[in-house]
Amino acid sequence: MSDRVNFGSRLGAIFAAAGSAVGLGNVWRFPYEAGNHGGAAFILVYLGCVFIFGLPIMIAEFTIGRRSKACTGGAYEVLAPGTRWRWVGYLGVLTGFLILGYYSVVSGWTLEYIWQALSGGFSGKTSADYVTMFQDFSQDPFRPLLWLLAILLITHFVVVKGVKDGIEKSSKIMMPLLFVLILLLAVCSLTLPDAEKGLEFLLNPDFSKVTSDVFLGAMGQAFFSLSLGMGCLSTYASYFGKHTNLGQTAMSVGLIDTFVAVLSGLIIFPAAFSVGIQPDAGPSLIFITLPNVFQQAFGEVPVLSYVCSVAFYVLLALAAITSTISLQEVSTAFLHERFHFTRSRAAVLVTAGSLVVGIISSLALGVWSPFTIGGMNLFDALDFVTAKIMLPLGGMFAAVFVGWVLDKHVVKGEVTNYGLLKSPYYPVYVFILRFIAPIGIALIFVNELGWLG
Ligand code: PHE
Repeated sequence: MSDRVNFGSRLGAIFAAAGSAVGLGNVWRFPYEAGNHGGAAFILVYLGCVFIFGLPIMIAEFTIGRRSKACTGGAYEVLAPGTRWRWVGYLGVLTGFLILGYYSVVSGWTLEYIWQALSGGFSGKTSADYVTMFQDFSQDPFRPLLWLLAILLITHFVVVKGVKDGIEKSSKIMMPLLFVLILLLAVCSLTLPDAEKGLEFLLNPDFSKVTSDVFLGAMGQAFFSLSLGMGCLSTYASYFGKHTNLGQTAMSVGLIDTFVAVLSGLIIFPAAFSVGIQPDAGPSLIFITLPNVFQQAFGEVPVLSYVCSVAFYVLLALAAITSTISLQEVSTAFLHERFHFTRSRAAVLVTAGSLVVGIISSLALGVWSPFTIGGMNLFDALDFVTAKIMLPLGGMFAAVFVGWVLDKHVVKGEVTNYGLLKSPYYPVYVFILRFIAPIGIALIFVNELGWLG
């Protein structure tokens, strides 16, 4: 056990975990959720969810991972041997595997859009052309599959390289690059004419829009965005060293993730408002509206619109890839540790399996769209079942496990590094895990299922 690989540095651990958290959820989903739910008011509720529910559950997942020194699929078996809790671990592996499948499809789209941006494919188009361009591409039976394969292969090679030389090293390169790009883009966007309208929308809370729906939406968004509920961060925590401060790491990851989400809003809204486009919902915001926004907003300086489009899709791809790596690692580590496959053989199996799920999800948007489950095509069904049912369930189990089942000395020991750190917030943390989080998540859960019926 003691020869388990570790991240080489605390900073490496933070970058890797933040890389998992920062993803399409921040740059794509957060801005349109905020856009639809009252801008700044949503952001305030979201912040509450991140700090009240998200961080304690993240520390709980870190505890499970670091204490067991096992990937999520084996962690519960180590900590509560012979009990049914092991199924929570398996649930996490399955969830991660399924998310990887469809998440890689959208990640692949970012590569197509980098290509389009680079080759000048956005210039001289009308608003309607951007819609057709996106529809034709995403419904095409072949082209998205090539990009899907590309994303899975990039992810594969990073994971095969291992925890230190693959995951940690790549995050240490990609995350700083992502920060530079996002700051640059935010500055460009904020200097556009009429940018203050977008800013006002994002920073001026409209509390009349805060309904219970907003509250529950913000909580769901917090889970997805922080990579909680499927043991992704618990698998990464199994590579943390014994001196890693779990509370501080969770706080850093939470802050970075929120910072990137808010900055994405600062890019998207001022740009959209400056050309008079209402922030739209769904995938169309970044794949249809934004190329148009960049063309129009910087139309007088074509170089700027070219550079901004390329930079934006590179940013999106970087964010997506550090997340697909963490998703791939969950299943690969499981096959490696449980069935003793070599890491590369395990990764080949996961990549091949994800390719199948990815192909099905991608075709579900085009030629297979007539096949539906509960009125949803297979892509939307996968998204619904994983993000809205499996993640909240996994998060709730992690909270209950650490709050009620795990030995109290271990729970406190992990947070304080066995007496080396002070933990004044410990009673609050345990109270949240025991009561607030399970009840809160049960509420999201009921809400989402209510939506189904
Ligand atoms: N947190 C990632 C995002 O915001 C998505 C993700 C979810 C990654 C769950 C890993 C596990 O895009």
